[in-house]
Amino acid sequence: MADHDMDRREFLAGSATLLVMVTPLSLLITSCSSDSAIKAKLPAEVGIKNGWLILDLAQPRFRPLTLVGDGVKLELPARPKPIIVTRVSPSEVAAFSSICPHAGYEVLLPEGGKLMCGSGHGGLFDLRGTVLHGPPKSNLERFEARLDQNLTLIRYPG
Ligand code: FES
Repeated sequence: MADHDMDRREFLAGSATLLVMVTPLSLLITSCSSDSAIKAKLPAEVGIKNGWLILDLAQPRFRPLTLVGDGVKLELPARPKPIIVTRVSPSEVAAFSSICPHAGYEVLLPEGGKLMCGSGHGGLFDLRGTVLHGPPKSNLERFEARLDQNLTLIRYPG
């Protein structure tokens, strides 16, 4: 039994060493090539690093995100409609799909802290994309987003 345990330990140690040797290089290559492939299709003012979109709020295009209650739309490759980014509070931003879950119409930019569906059906959402008023029965699809000083970072929603 002791020999069996030793063989297993040696095998696991060898596997771990192999993983350590292979993983960092392959991750680096994947991250870099993926970022540059996406960057080629993004609007020039949008950066990307390690799968995070970077919006510099000092740029006029993104200045609405310095105002609580305001927001911007962002066209992204492989998304049929733009995503919406909002300034929820002095310390919080949110990012979500503009596709209304009721019938797929595009949701409009915020007015008075709320976002209305462009269909005229009466769908209404808050600044985090949470449904406030039907007919939609679910929230807008959310993407991870955070504020880092004068930058807004959004996990690329692919
Ligand atoms: S499509 Fe948005 S409320 Fe109907």
